[in-house]
Amino acid sequence: MVTDRSGLLRVMANDWWRGAVIYQIYIRSFGDGNGDGLGDIAGIRARLPYLARLGVDAIWVTPWYPSPMVDGGYDVADYRDIDPALGSLPEADGLIADAHRHGIRVLLDIVPNHTSSAHQWFQAALAAAPGAAARDRYLFRDGCGTGGELPPNNWRSAFGGPAWTRVPDGQWYLHLFAAGQPDLNWAEPAVRADFEQTLRFWFDRGIDGFRIDVANRMVKDPALPDLADPAGPGEHPYQDRDGLHEIYRDWRRVADSYDPPRVFVAEAWLDDQDRLARYVRPDELHTAFNFDFLTVPWNAAQARDSIDGTLAALGPVGAPATWVLSNHDVVRHLSRFGRPPLAQRRGVRFIYLNAIADFPLDIDLGTKRARAAALLLLALPGSAYVYQGEELGLWEVEDLPDDVLRDPTWEQSGHTDRGRDGCRVPLPWSGDGPPFGFGPAGSRPWLPQPPAWKALTAARQQDDPGSMLSLYRAALTLRREVAALGDGPLSWLPGTADGVLAFSRGTGFACAVNYSAGPWPLPAGAEVLLASGPLPDGRLPPDTAVWLSLRS
Ligand code: GLC
Repeated sequence: MVTDRSGLLRVMANDWWRGAVIYQIYIRSFGDGNGDGLGDIAGIRARLPYLARLGVDAIWVTPWYPSPMVDGGYDVADYRDIDPALGSLPEADGLIADAHRHGIRVLLDIVPNHTSSAHQWFQAALAAAPGAAARDRYLFRDGCGTGGELPPNNWRSAFGGPAWTRVPDGQWYLHLFAAGQPDLNWAEPAVRADFEQTLRFWFDRGIDGFRIDVANRMVKDPALPDLADPAGPGEHPYQDRDGLHEIYRDWRRVADSYDPPRVFVAEAWLDDQDRLARYVRPDELHTAFNFDFLTVPWNAAQARDSIDGTLAALGPVGAPATWVLSNHDVVRHLSRFGRPPLAQRRGVRFIYLNAIADFPLDIDLGTKRARAAALLLLALPGSAYVYQGEELGLWEVEDLPDDVLRDPTWEQSGHTDRGRDGCRVPLPWSGDGPPFGFGPAGSRPWLPQPPAWKALTAARQQDDPGSMLSLYRAALTLRREVAALGDGPLSWLPGTADGVLAFSRGTGFACAVNYSAGPWPLPAGAEVLLASGPLPDGRLPPDTAVWLSLRS
């Protein structure tokens, strides 16, 4: 039976997002309700009790709109409908209502940089002649070279190859991602107006906010010049241009016109934390993913540097930090932390399997560190993201056969980069073999699951106090109980050894993580609230984290 906690949501403060734990649902791989091998809305609804028991505050659902699925749904053909393979609008309404009854808020994913080539606007643009108004919603240009046979400039697609594709009448259109994802022209007022309508469409249906896909690329230099480095702040021809901010001020006004106000989180892969902080000024977006932290290797000094840099950049604008270790675009952190330091390079970019695959993986070490990292993630000030399956201790599936790969990166890189499918393998819920309860018995998940995930199903872990799932549950329970966790200040504990990060939250709570090779004696009088592993002789062993109560 569902306990109705929706009343609780109403009375909770409007700034819930400042300290929320948000669970990312990659919808195609979470739960398959109809047995077609693809996760769907029914699969999410059936698993809401699991998420409530886990203790998350909100879910972020990756795109569920009608889509040819060239890029896992990030190629949207209609922003105000649901792909029939994933559900229907009434089912979406049902999910939103069910989630709220469980006390879980719902964020959707909006994709404003590009549409699908199947979107009616793009189809109309293709049908129109060069120079026609119907092409103005996209970036069509004549080519270079005597016959226009060369792309208009030297920009590259994020997935490999040129960022331009030629259409039969000889013009080219821009796509910073796959050819099936033409970039929109945000200088066109009709584009802006339409996205505001999309925001309202979903806000009116009761969703609590949006994750904004590629939030830093919609505005382009109108001259579309060649990319030449180095570009100064705001001078890159398609990244982080100042014109973005007026769009977000408009969006914020829309979000604030609702009661309770709706919220945004920006996906903006930017190296410069101060530039990133501009997106979360008080009249713009609420939060932005902290990708600098995501790419930090298993290293105390770099972790501290990233935490300090994040807090210093956000302090002046008053926005809370976010902390994230994995998502559907990067190699799962367990498989990164289980590799030697050389394989783990800090740098704000997707972490493709290719970058690390040649380095040996120690899954036990990765698991141990992932457990410690979870306690770090959930103790840092601000909000935190959990990517589906990290709470089960899933690793990256590195041996998917070539013929099942779906990430456009695989094709666009000329089969040199295996892309991101390895972190998108459908979750193991129960049972001794595939589909592991992802779908009904006999169904075939869209990507094959490793037989060894038998040991990692949610069913197997739920009653095992030593499991990753139990650790996440315990940490999330404590996070709700300890008032100092979530939003608020952090203080580094003085006198900590090299290779150990230790900080307090408020006066009574501390977290310590040991990245060094030797044990670290716990502070005298501290009471252990939760540890990621055994603490022999009252000391914190390497690759282990602990939450402490400092009240004696
Ligand atoms: C974002 C998404 C990624 C997608 C890209 C293009 O980075 O997270 O999955 O491929 O945008 O939409």
